[in-house]
Amino acid sequence: MINKIKSIANSNLNKIIQVRRFIHQNPELSFKEFNTSKYIQKFLKEHKISYEAGILETGIVAKIEGKNPSNKLIVLRADIDALPIQEENNIDYCSTNSGIMHACGHDVHTASLLGTALILKEFKNDFSGTVKFIFQPGEEKLPGGAKLMLEEGVFNETPNSCYAQHVFPDLPAGKVGFKSGIYMASADELHVKIIGKGGHAALPHKLNDPILMAAQLISSLQQIVSRNNNPNNPSVLSFGYIKGDGATNVIPNEVELKGTFRTFDETWRFKAHQKMKAIANGICQSAGGKCDFDIKVGYPFLVNDNIITQNAKSAAVDYLGIKNVVDLELRMTAEDFAYFSQVSPSCFYRLGTGNKNNKWNLHSPTFNIDEKAFSISSGLMAYITLKDLLK
Ligand code: NI
Repeated sequence: MINKIKSIANSNLNKIIQVRRFIHQNPELSFKEFNTSKYIQKFLKEHKISYEAGILETGIVAKIEGKNPSNKLIVLRADIDALPIQEENNIDYCSTNSGIMHACGHDVHTASLLGTALILKEFKNDFSGTVKFIFQPGEEKLPGGAKLMLEEGVFNETPNSCYAQHVFPDLPAGKVGFKSGIYMASADELHVKIIGKGGHAALPHKLNDPILMAAQLISSLQQIVSRNNNPNNPSVLSFGYIKGDGATNVIPNEVELKGTFRTFDETWRFKAHQKMKAIANGICQSAGGKCDFDIKVGYPFLVNDNIITQNAKSAAVDYLGIKNVVDLELRMTAEDFAYFSQVSPSCFYRLGTGNKNNKWNLHSPTFNIDEKAFSISSGLMAYITLKDLLK
């Protein structure tokens, strides 16, 4: 089976790289992936793969049925949106849409998944069950295309397993990485406004200084992570924005803070929100001010099912050899595939896309990949799926 997969993947390799380059050259922002969606549909049509389009306007669910379609359902997912970044690469397939760029590899995920579909089509007489291919809009923008697609009923029939891969520049092309259990964090945005009473900095006794309140608030809130959180559960609280528009001799009326809170436990997550608000209100009130603490709830944490992930990893060892399969560390970044992982046994794994000569950072204007990754990206996912279907 592996040899047949590799030979189909190899004969499609150039085509899939061209698909990736086309998508890379024509990036579109979250929930506005109209041409990308049309392009994917055209590809599916040309290769006689059935699909349903128009879910959240630009989302697509393609389907390949084996011998006994109701036997088992496996879902494979690629995200299709790009980021508001001006590309700075000097390549002939550079973004032609000003200020928009595939800087998170979603072009790679989409092209690879189309390649996987082409391979699985050639095996439909060999497996029993159904494979669905989700081309998902809006991964980069809250509330997340995954959540909205679930609300539209894409999991009306709960899958037996669900897989996605994501580019990973830290790992060289040719390798992949797995982690069972919790893998990526929930992420919530904190928008805090501290309202005091400003005036001349030489007369603090006549004012309610919001700068001092902000300083106390930032350090006190860290105690939530160090004192209230169970140390077994990784949590991070960071503020990345502070604005108090005064001067050396002017205390402003207001200070604005923006930050992020990340963790791996849904009960603790919402308890922490309440705790943050209580501490912030207490500090500001006792200093004669007020606090407006707004939390924008983002994606939940992503959990990789132990059994499915171990099976996927052993499939990767079969397909690539043990030296090309690595164990990943936990990450505090977030991903809306987490919503799928909360309702279906799932595995979100990493595709090595880096190399020795380049330092490519995700979400940067010079992000790119080593396209050697395509020699494994479609075939490995096809093999993981087939191994799961034949189990
Ligand atoms: Ni991404």
